[in-house]
Amino acid sequence: MDLFLKKPVERFIREADSGEHTLKRTLGPVSLIALGIGAIIGAGLFSLTGIAAAENAGPAVTLSFVVAAIACTFAGMCYSELASMIPIAGSAYTYAYATMGEFIAWIIGWDLVLEYAVAAAVVAVSWSRYVASFLKDIGIYLPVQFTACPFDPITLPNGVAGVGIINLPAIFIIVMVSIILMIGIQQSSWVNSVIVVVKVAIVLIFISVGAHYINWNNYTPFIPENTGKFGEFGISGIMRAAGVIFFAYIGFDTVSTAAQESKNPQKDIPIGIIGSLLICTVLYLAFSFVLTGMVNYKAMQGDAAPVATAINLTPYPWLQILIKLGIISGFTSVILVLLLGQSRVFYAMSRDGLLPAVFSKVHPKWKTPWLSNLIFLVFVSIFAGFFPISKLGHMTSIGTLLAFILVCIGVIVLRRTQPNLPRPYRSPCVPLFPILGILVCFSMMTSLDGATWIRLVVWLFLGMIFYFLYSRHHSKLRKS
Ligand code: ALA
Repeated sequence: MDLFLKKPVERFIREADSGEHTLKRTLGPVSLIALGIGAIIGAGLFSLTGIAAAENAGPAVTLSFVVAAIACTFAGMCYSELASMIPIAGSAYTYAYATMGEFIAWIIGWDLVLEYAVAAAVVAVSWSRYVASFLKDIGIYLPVQFTACPFDPITLPNGVAGVGIINLPAIFIIVMVSIILMIGIQQSSWVNSVIVVVKVAIVLIFISVGAHYINWNNYTPFIPENTGKFGEFGISGIMRAAGVIFFAYIGFDTVSTAAQESKNPQKDIPIGIIGSLLICTVLYLAFSFVLTGMVNYKAMQGDAAPVATAINLTPYPWLQILIKLGIISGFTSVILVLLLGQSRVFYAMSRDGLLPAVFSKVHPKWKTPWLSNLIFLVFVSIFAGFFPISKLGHMTSIGTLLAFILVCIGVIVLRRTQPNLPRPYRSPCVPLFPILGILVCFSMMTSLDGATWIRLVVWLFLGMIFYFLYSRHHSKLRKS
């Protein structure tokens, strides 16, 4: 039974600012909202909206964004309640430790690697693709074998087919971002805020220019009739598309991993989570509405860059360059915030003794877990530079959905077991909202393919082996 040993909430709070391994508290509400937006707007919006419209929902993809936003809002409120009660860097891992015990906490901490480190590698590979294409637009050609991994087929400039050697741009961006993360949370937050301003401005420019080129006929029918197959248009298509574009919302929970670097976490973390979610939802709805109004959903079939097609309908070709810049900067902040979240979750796990101490070693001057950043720099770079991982995006979705479900369960459990603990933010309608959150997230998990499920199970199994061989014997809670 001691697998389910729980760490008392009071103990978490007591330990948070004690000892030499403490992080620097510099982030206010605006920085936290920027952190959320930094992680949220990225590949999902720019590349999945068109695909989901063409294959699943038609113009009603806008409604799919509403459905996914509702699911994320349930989870976001649960995250906010727990983060305001237990403002510790470990996020879902920490909440699980306080509510469901050490073993489940370990599993969820391990699972978060899929949401943070794996996603950072996947996004770095997309970043590399966009940078190569952007540079080509301005006349700079990167050698193709150095922008693809050894498993990727390529065509050399002389027409000969071959495979890549190394994805150097992907490694470059991971190294740059990791260096910023090592130097300081304040510096990371500034870089993130600048990037967020750029990418939000570009999304707004697309929406306001594009709105003038809407062909209202494209909205009829708004919900195309179901083809007879589940997920191909009609109501089931809207739901399937919601599962696809869910990826676009991933990241708001990263705000909670900055709890120990926030000046007033009890109040500001809920503002950061709900604020960033709200702003991105409004932008996403407007963006998808304009895109499907400009380009007919049928014309987006097989089009990997529907935004480019939409811009071609305007007399402003320079917008193409701006949009690519928006995408590249968007990806950069997503990688930055995901790697930040990753190091903070492992920091919390290491402080609890479940991972080696190196992950919680804080630099005396920079006040960041720099060695942890360095280790992830190496791992994520190898992963992104040498392996064909662009198909692993679904791993991130399934891992995140699992974390969301456990956080929703955590809220229900703590309301029963510790009803009197101070809750600076209280999620409304408990247990109804958390239960709805669990149901919606689980139904999205079931819409993912079998290979993704198998990978999840294998990954969690590896985590269990590590737990029984190492973590169980080093757990500080168990020792005390
Ligand atoms: N939400 C992030 C993106 O869309 C992960 O890239």
